[in-house]
Amino acid sequence: MATIAPPPTDDDAIVAPATYADPDAYDRLFARLRAEDPVHWTEPADYRPFWSVTRFADIQEVERHAAQFLNAPRMMLRPVSVEEQVRKLTGGSALMLRDIVHMDGRDHMVHRKLTQAWFMPGRLKALEEDLRALARHFVGQMVERGGSCEFVDDVAVWYPLRVIMRILGVPAEDEARMLVLTRDIFGPDDPDIRKGPKPDLATTIKGFTDYFAELTEARRRDPSDDIATLLSTAEVDGQPIGTLELMSYYIIIATAGHDTTSSTIAGGLLALLQNSGEMARLRADPAILAAGGVDEMVRWVTPVKHFFRTAVEDYALRGKTIRAGDHLMMCYPSANRDADAFPDPFRFDLSRPPNRHLGFGYGPHLCLGQHLAKMEIRIFFEELLARVDAIELAGDPAWVASNFVSGLKRLPIAYKAR
Ligand code: HEM
Repeated sequence: MATIAPPPTDDDAIVAPATYADPDAYDRLFARLRAEDPVHWTEPADYRPFWSVTRFADIQEVERHAAQFLNAPRMMLRPVSVEEQVRKLTGGSALMLRDIVHMDGRDHMVHRKLTQAWFMPGRLKALEEDLRALARHFVGQMVERGGSCEFVDDVAVWYPLRVIMRILGVPAEDEARMLVLTRDIFGPDDPDIRKGPKPDLATTIKGFTDYFAELTEARRRDPSDDIATLLSTAEVDGQPIGTLELMSYYIIIATAGHDTTSSTIAGGLLALLQNSGEMARLRADPAILAAGGVDEMVRWVTPVKHFFRTAVEDYALRGKTIRAGDHLMMCYPSANRDADAFPDPFRFDLSRPPNRHLGFGYGPHLCLGQHLAKMEIRIFFEELLARVDAIELAGDPAWVASNFVSGLKRLPIAYKAR
């Protein structure tokens, strides 16, 4: 007789990739946690236990106290088997990489500073026309498809990838290789995204480091106006940046810079298609995008589903005692639906004032690329709506099964060129 699997416990559902492929299931589960046990001790099978922090104010509190809650050594959800694999490969360390997400305190500050100015609005302004040309190119390709497309695979994946690779200094012909590597390192196991088994972490990291070592050499010989040039000559305290830190820097910018933005573009478009009043307002006044509309898309989609912190000392959080050494999962999408922070949080409102969402995180690790991401998204929608009319859903949307960075995997649409 066939046995029926028991329903997953809340703790298993919190980590289950399937929860993230079903926005209603996510909302039901996390609305209950926010109401009943907002700082919830979580013991899922196959993972080390942690506190799930689900409310806006509590995540802000944790991130604000960066000296008490460290990024290292646990950055994200990984099954115990994968954590053991990492320790075996590194000879005991929990970390394969040493990028700014893994750093704390002064180390974090000095490494972040190396590129921070590059990502500020003043510096990014010089890229506006370049990005607009790219957005026009991808919208143009969409129009040439003749009235319908699979928006995620045909458009949303490629535009942010092209942008971040340009900024890094990776030529267009190497982008497909970068897409494979970035999906191998942090990407989902969703069979619709991944054809075949995931290579082990060491192989993927070697793929990246071989590539970026060559790029570094090329820029040292022949400098250009890109992040590779900046990193290849970067110094910390008068010494060249270490090889592990350098390679990790490339990898974090390459990986953080596109899945997040493409998920927001696709999810933002779906939200507009499902809220025709907001679409009409945006068409009538595209300035809404810069005035907060893009932030509402980021809040709505919240592509980064969590990051972790580790407590260095005992700390009382919403009546719970977090012990030194305990881990905390900051559940960003849940915080961005917290009714204490957002009136009517399940309403998509491009003019929501104020909109201090946690989609880009908070505190000293606040997303380095947030201004770039916002500019990219704004320009994309400006170009899309100027060129394409009467967009509608042409099938069911579907979401990636992943508990880390994820969004839509399918968004079939039909439209008319203007
Ligand atoms: C809509 C798009 C994006 C979203 C939603 C997003 C979200 C996030 C989040 C939640 C964090 C963690 C913040 C924290 O710990 O408080 C983060 C960090 C980071 N993001 Fe983004 N990101 C986006 C786009 C980008 C882009 C385009 C780049 C390109 C450079 C980028 C680079 C980074 C880096 C380097 C960090 C680590 C910062 C640090 O630890 O100091 N992100 N991002």
